[in-house]
Amino acid sequence: SAPVPLIAGNWKMHGLAASLDEARAIAAGCTAASPRVAICPPSVLIHRMAQALADTKVQVGGQDAHFDDFGAFTGDVSAEMLADAGARLVILGHSERRTGYRETDALVAKKVLAALRAGLEPIVCVGETLDERKAGRALEVVTGQVRGSLPAELAGKAFAVAYEPVWAIGTGLTPTTPEIEEMHRAIRATLNEMFGAHGAGVPILYGGSVKPNNAAEILKADEVGGALVGGASLKASDFLAIVQAA
Ligand code: G3H
Repeated sequence: SAPVPLIAGNWKMHGLAASLDEARAIAAGCTAASPRVAICPPSVLIHRMAQALADTKVQVGGQDAHFDDFGAFTGDVSAEMLADAGARLVILGHSERRTGYRETDALVAKKVLAALRAGLEPIVCVGETLDERKAGRALEVVTGQVRGSLPAELAGKAFAVAYEPVWAIGTGLTPTTPEIEEMHRAIRATLNEMFGAHGAGVPILYGGSVKPNNAAEILKADEVGGALVGGASLKASDFLAIVQAA
């Protein structure tokens, strides 16, 4: 079956208690006709945001989770804790974590298993660097990340993949529509190989400099099942313009 589109906002390390007003404004602007919408704030805001957005159609997600459920891991937060705080989804394997914290495909796959144990829906991020694209290796790198980061246990489970070219994140640069479609079709083919019919229903989000002025074109591209939005998710008017373009 066709994927249900998802527009997810990744607030990264932005947002204080006052930002809950922005989240409320986003929820107030989402109608019954809107696509599925999620906001992923810093983990310390999840509990309050989940309470503030209860009874709205906007779901709350985490930005990362530890691969274990509990233990002596100073500073870390487990998927079970995110779920306990009210999260329904969790972003895993974002390039800022793959690069900044040396997260490998194998580690991301372990985090996905933790998310599934906690009943969270993982949004697993993949994407090539500019050097990899220039070397003509983008498709190989990204489909390799898909194979390595998605454990077989995802079969039959709700999850999303987010294609985020590293060079498009926070730069204002985006791939062309044919480049996005080529990559999303390759990811779909990989998901179909890995998960059979279930793979066809997995939304493949595009992320990287999605803005109100380019959202409509990106979101109507073949095999684009939504967006993972960074900077433009921080302001309700921008994020709602993207939601409305879906
Ligand atoms: O997770 C979100 C992405 O990294 C995109 O960020 O929209 O600020 O480019 P951006």
